[in-house]
Amino acid sequence: MPRRPVSVPLTLAPAPGDEPAYRWLYGAIRAEILDGLIEPGHRLPATRDLARQYGLSRGTVVAAFDLLQAEGYVESAVGSGTRVSRVVPEPRRVRRMETQAALAARPRRLAAAVRRITIFRQHDAASACAFRANQPALDLFPRVEWARVASRRWRRGSTDLLAGTEPLGYPPLRAAIAAYLRVSRGVICEPGRVAVVSGMQEALALTATLLVDPGDVVCVENPGYGGASRVMAAAGARVRDVPVDGEGACVPAARVAARLAYLTPAHQFPLGMCMTMARRQAWLAWARASGAALFEDDYDSEYRYSGRPVAALQGLDREGTVIFAGSFSKVLCPALRLGYVVLPGDLVDPAAAALSVTSRHASVMTQVALEAFMTEGHFARHLRRMRDVYAERRGALIEAAARWLGGRLDVVAVEAGLQTVGYVADGIDGTAVAAAAAAQGVEVLPLRRHTRGRLDRDGLQLGFAAVPPGEIARGAQVLARVIGASVRR
Ligand SMILES: Cc1ncc(COP(=O)(O)O)c(C=O)c1O
Repeated sequence: MPRRPVSVPLTLAPAPGDEPAYRWLYGAIRAEILDGLIEPGHRLPATRDLARQYGLSRGTVVAAFDLLQAEGYVESAVGSGTRVSRVVPEPRRVRRMETQAALAARPRRLAAAVRRITIFRQHDAASACAFRANQPALDLFPRVEWARVASRRWRRGSTDLLAGTEPLGYPPLRAAIAAYLRVSRGVICEPGRVAVVSGMQEALALTATLLVDPGDVVCVENPGYGGASRVMAAAGARVRDVPVDGEGACVPAARVAARLAYLTPAHQFPLGMCMTMARRQAWLAWARASGAALFEDDYDSEYRYSGRPVAALQGLDREGTVIFAGSFSKVLCPALRLGYVVLPGDLVDPAAAALSVTSRHASVMTQVALEAFMTEGHFARHLRRMRDVYAERRGALIEAAARWLGGRLDVVAVEAGLQTVGYVADGIDGTAVAAAAAAQGVEVLPLRRHTRGRLDRDGLQLGFAAVPPGEIARGAQVLARVIGASVRR
């Protein structure tokens, strides 16, 4: 049987004292209704509760309710209490909330840091179609296992967990992440150096808080991840672009006095190459010489389809220059908002202090569920399953590209990740192709979106993980027509 909804207590304007209590109560509830603060259909509190809350007799409350009902402001039905009428006898007034919103629209001086921020839109609300990039197959998220594990863990878990945890995260989850990273990513870490954060974005913001003062130089890859350059710009950094070639991000000159460089060595975002060993060594040498830290964004390297597994750059570092960070957004789902940072030893205490005054810690509710999900083996099973699914989808994209896009789009057979790029021929505008494809229900992100300034080679980012092979084949055919039409134009 559905439970009867419980109403929330009403906070009414105080009684002026010169009118009967039932008249005051009637007038105060009527004002709340006309101001739109209690919505049509909402249930009013029980007469007994209101009487107790305002120190009135129950008869007084009943008299006020009777008057409201007689005038048509409320309706009551046996068994479902008293509710605000769908149609009230007077027009609703300008809502108090709207008046407040209008006041807020007066010019306000925002803090300098906020004035530097431009919104970073990342969340795709619509269901996925070909070639949704940067998203895992959300329809294959193991909902049943997740719900089972989380509910079991919370039913049996200690009440102490409800009090919260340390700023660096729930210790058993930090241990599970450290064990996973040591084995699967070649990261040098112990649990004490792992900080659990709410995804890569918080990992970047935390790093900026720890290392970047306004005016400091931060190197970022270009083309590159907009989420990284935005955080650094918001911190007041002078963002310096580093170009990307076939070996990965290019190393700046030794004299560049940067505080930090943001890199995606395993799978360059968005171009997809894996940074060569020579380039990794060159970055470490540059960091040593310049005193800068290297931020390694390892966002989707769990998925490798060919070639040997490539260990993290952090695993080559002997001097604590690399801050390694990962996210569960690609391996599980973006809604989880969980990720991790492996900190050099000297940054552990400062990071704990910084987190203690911002998020305090990521939600323990999800940290506890994730820890059980990992230690009970579901995480490894899910990864294995998704690797097979994505390998098949990557194959479907390469096959569809060869069949329909040959000569029109040079699609790179990436070795890792959830997406790749396709380069358009000279004279074709990737942004225009993306707009024309969108009109036909196919999503491709122009490389221009991830590039500041001049674009060396125009192209499109194509995701293959989020949708099944049939949809990939449809997308390739649409794209072939769209590019064909651009060539003729
Ligand atoms: C390069 C890169 N890093 C990190 C992320 C994940 O960010 P978050 O953990 O904040 O969801 C993404 C998501 O698209 C990405 O493309």
